[in-house]
Formats: sequence, structure tokens, C-alpha cells
Amino acid sequence: MKESFVINGLGGQHTLNGDIPVRGAKNDALKIMAASFLFKDTVAITNVPDIDDIGALSALMQSLGARVARAERRVEVSAPTETDTTLDRVMTKKFRASVVLMGPVLARYGKISLPHPGGCVIGARPIDLFLRAFQKMGATYSIDDEYYHIETKGGKLHGADIFLDIASVGVTETVMMAATLAEGTTIIRNAAMEPEIQNLATYLVACGSRVEGVGTPTLTIHGGDVLESKGLEYKVIPDRIETGSFLVLAALAGDEVRVTDCDPSHVRALLSLLEQAGVQFEVGEDAITVRKPAVPYKAVNVKTHEYPGFATDLQAPMTIFLTQADGESLVFETMFEGRLNYTQDLIKMGADITMFDPHRVMVRGPKLLTGRELDGPDLRAGFAYIIAGIIAKKRSVIYNVSHIDRGYEKMEERLRAIGVDITRVAE
Ligand code: EPZ
Repeated sequence: MKESFVINGLGGQHTLNGDIPVRGAKNDALKIMAASFLFKDTVAITNVPDIDDIGALSALMQSLGARVARAERRVEVSAPTETDTTLDRVMTKKFRASVVLMGPVLARYGKISLPHPGGCVIGARPIDLFLRAFQKMGATYSIDDEYYHIETKGGKLHGADIFLDIASVGVTETVMMAATLAEGTTIIRNAAMEPEIQNLATYLVACGSRVEGVGTPTLTIHGGDVLESKGLEYKVIPDRIETGSFLVLAALAGDEVRVTDCDPSHVRALLSLLEQAGVQFEVGEDAITVRKPAVPYKAVNVKTHEYPGFATDLQAPMTIFLTQADGESLVFETMFEGRLNYTQDLIKMGADITMFDPHRVMVRGPKLLTGRELDGPDLRAGFAYIIAGIIAKKRSVIYNVSHIDRGYEKMEERLRAIGVDITRVAE
């Protein structure tokens, strides 16, 4: 059933009040679930967000013979000792994280066949870096009409020295997982350093994997045997993108809003820009309180970058923020070429935005937005539309909220608790 969000906007008023909790990070939970193919025993995962992507990965892993038990915010996964290693086409195309199964499945079972993965349409999102890395580790691949078929020689990958041309999150994770069961030592240079990768690596080490350099751009992984969790639970870290999006919302519409259950150290790049823009906030150990501004916000320039730089996933919410800041801001999206398309809808809501090329826009503010009917284009821009609808005057309808449900747990309930007038309706 298709559903929409109907939002009655605040028209620029700062009336939201109270606490809004952050849930576990989608992009951490999905990766540890995939990593459970490296284990001979059950991996128990806590603080798992109750979102559609978790259900989609569970179904895909079950189709490969894994046992997945899911109770509220807790998932237990047991990998099979043998499996048919062909990923279902329809299930794989539902989300990008399916590509991360490549590493653990290939390393454990010696081969994998998968179609080009799906996910948010924010750019071309090729998988060439994955294929090159696995080739270096001794695998061969062929491509037919629908599938990539990747195979190891003699059932085993071997260690390799791999330089990533792009510090890709997915490639770093999947190669790190694969290298855990490979023969010999693998070095990943120019590795991504996102907190989710660090959390995953730390857990793998606790379960017997030998990964050195966690949190640095050079990871050295000494291959070994199948891992054992021995009952050690994996705790998913708070979603830093949700944290950042709530901070933007609080800055734009809050009287006093406390974003709780978060890790402030993961959103330093955003906090730095918000501080320069004049946002009043106070950082605690696991919460950040944002208060109504005394003076208008100032324009700041944004350039997306790999962690610890400014997250591409926070670019859309930040652009909404800049529509309300005084002056001209340049937004430079360095990562994905389709990730500024949503600005066309903001212009229709009254924002003053000029697109120079697919990677750069100029935002001139402040401009009071007016609510309208919007189609949620992708997960992060979908949530940015919610923020736009909340700060705009009049009513907004955001269609097809399935994109938002893929990554955010019962968002409307949490927003209502701080005073947002938002309802979920059937289309
Ligand atoms: C992860 O995607 C996240 N997804 C994305 O979040 C996030 O935007 C992105 O990292 C960047 O932080 C998951 O973790 C599931 P990349 P990923 O490989 O791993 C290019 C969300 O909303 N590239 O770091 O797919 C790629 O096209 C999602 O939760 C190649 O060229 O991102 C991009 O330009 C959206 N060849 C750049 O690298 C490859 O083989 C960085 O992408 C692989 C990637």
C-alpha cells in the first residue's frame, strides 16, 4: 500500500519542543548482518533500527540459507555451512547494501552471482572497484545479461595490496570482510574511515579477525579461520545522519529540542558549520540541545567529503538549512552526480537556488518556503522534504514514503512528540 505524509507547516516559527531520540544506524546494522556470513556461530545484533532495509536484507540472507531471527531492535543471524551463492534478482535490486554480501559470501563459500545492486538513485553507483579488488585477491569474474559471476580459485581468496581510487565505504567494508577469511595478508590503502566501518572492524577483531589500522586510511588484515562470536553482542552505533537531520530541523523550527541517544563526535563536521552559521547548541555526552536563535543564521559553504568530512547523506538537510540563512551559500556535492536534483522541488517551494552543474548549487536566503505536493526522491532527500514541509507555510504532502521507511524508523511518531503536525495517510 502506498502511503504519504501530510504536514501542516510552521511557516518559519520556532515552536518545536522536547526530546527526539536517534535510532541505530542503518548503514552499520546492514553491514554487520552481512558480516555474519564470516561466523560459524550466531551473531546477535542490538540497537537495530526497525526499518524496511533490515527486512529486505533479512529476506535476501534467508534466501541464501541464513537463519535470521528478528525481535524488536534485536537481530540474530546464523550463517549456513553451505549455500547456493546466487542472489535473488528482485531482492538484490531493492537496496544497495546487498553488494556488501559479495565479500563475506565469496570468502566463505568461494563464489557468488549477483545482479547489479539497487538502492537510491543518486548517481551511477558502479561496482568496478569491488570487482577490481576481488581480482587482485585472485578471483575471476564474468558478466552475462543479468548477473556478475565471481569465483575464487580453489575456493579461497588470497591476500593482496589494494589501493582504492575512491575511499569507498562499501568497498572498504566488503574487502575487509573478505580479507578476514583470505589466505595471507591484505592491505587496503585509501580505505574509508566512517564510524560504521570502525564499529564493524572492532567487532570482527573481538571475534578473532586480525585487522590493524582501524580508523586510519590503511587497513592491514591478516587472513584466518571462520570467526566465532561466542555470544558477544554487536551494538549498532547511533545513526549520525538521523542525528544531523534532527539537528537541522531543531535549528530551523525548534524552541528547545534535545536530540538524544546520539554520538556527538560523529557529527563534528556538521556542528562546525552550524556553529559558524550561528546555531545555538550545547553538546552533552550522548545528546545535543538546540535553542531558538536570537539573530538570523548566516550563510556558510558546504563541500561533501568522506568521513570525517561533511557527509553526503547530510547534504540535502543542510541545503534546506541554507535556504533559511542570510546570504549566499555554495553547496558542492562531490560524491554523487544525481544528489542535487531534489533542489528543483525546493525552488518550486520558493527557495532561491541556482544550479551551476550536477555537483554545485548556489543557495540565496533567507526565503520563506511554501508547502506543496512532493515525491520523495530518495531516502535522505525524502527526509529533507519532511524538514522543508515543517518549516514551510501551509500544507505539504510527501508521496511514496516507502523511500523514507527504508531507512527511518516510525519517523512521524518521533516528530509528532516534539510538536510537528504530521500524519501518515494511504494514497
Ligand atoms: C554508502 O554507500 C552509504 N550506503 C551511502 O548512504 C552513502 O551516501 C555513501 O556510503 C557515502 O558515504 C550504505 O552504506 C549502504 P561509496 P556506498 O562506495 O558504499 C563510487 C543512504 O542513504 N564508486 O562510498 O555505495 C560511487 O559511485 C546511502 O544510506 C565507484 O565509482 O558509497 C560514489 O561516487 C545513500 N565504484 C563513490 O564511489 C565502485 O565500485 C563513493 O561511494 C564503488 C563506488
